[in-house]
Amino acid sequence: MTGSALLVGGSSEIGMAVLLRLLGPAPRRVILAGRPSGELWQNADKLRDAGYTVSTTQYDAGLDSEEIDGMLEHACAQHPVELAIVAVGSMTAKSFAEGVIVNGLAVALLLRALVQRKPRHIVLLSSAAAVRPRQSIAEYSIGKQLADSTAVLLARQAEETGVRLLVVRPGFVTTRMTAGLSKPPLATDPERVADRVAAAMEHRKTIVWVPRPMGFVVRALSLVPRRLLPAAWR
Ligand SMILES: NC(=O)c1ccc[n+]([C@@H]2O[C@H](COP(=O)([O-])OP(=O)(O)OC[C@H]3O[C@@H](n4cnc5c(N)ncnc54)[C@H](OP(=O)(O)O)[C@@H]3O)[C@@H](O)[C@H]2O)c1
Repeated sequence: MTGSALLVGGSSEIGMAVLLRLLGPAPRRVILAGRPSGELWQNADKLRDAGYTVSTTQYDAGLDSEEIDGMLEHACAQHPVELAIVAVGSMTAKSFAEGVIVNGLAVALLLRALVQRKPRHIVLLSSAAAVRPRQSIAEYSIGKQLADSTAVLLARQAEETGVRLLVVRPGFVTTRMTAGLSKPPLATDPERVADRVAAAMEHRKTIVWVPRPMGFVVRALSLVPRRLLPAAWR
């Protein structure tokens, strides 16, 4: 890849691992979009140290469609984006509505705006919870379902205009998002997510589960009545 790369959720651990895996050698222009934070600046510094040209721009899940277009126009007008990674997600929203908006509606609007810009690749960090919603993380799951379904529906339409959209469905990944939670079977890490994403892009896939058996596990779990499962899996 030679064009610009955009990471929305510029402070994300998984997003950064995927970005680094896909970027290719410097020099290259990278845009980190997110809320100002120490993690975002650290990611920017890490990329600069590796020789990339980095700019940052503000993205907040509260942006409406017009504001998202404005953000993308400002960030990408002079340097069209070739790769866009969407890594926004939160399990600590203050309300049900906020959780559904941050993980779902905001991401759906962002994906639609990105597709219009025709990058070559869009990578959405979805979740296994989009297919197997769980009561304990209801608003996160419902939001992810919305974002995931939007991406799946957009993928075909996007392909007609030369845009390849990849939906990534990890299970449990050890990052700050899951810090303090007990590790379930099949837990993985950001580098393995990045490896699976790179391989899926090479094979022109639309959906990839991480780790690979997660897709089978989710399908098997959906055959079991919820009342028979441990509370955390319902
Ligand atoms: N970790 C896992 O087990 C796991 C599993 C499956 C899927 N995922 C998905 O993978 C993606 C990356 O997660 P991660 O593990 O790398 O966690 P992370 O480091 O916490 O990244 C989450 C990103 O979402 C951003 N974000 C959260 N609320 C926002 C808001 N209201 N407005 C704008 N940005 C907001 C965060 O920005 P701030 O720094 O400003 O909060 C951060 O950049 C997420 O979509 C997550 O749902 C994670």
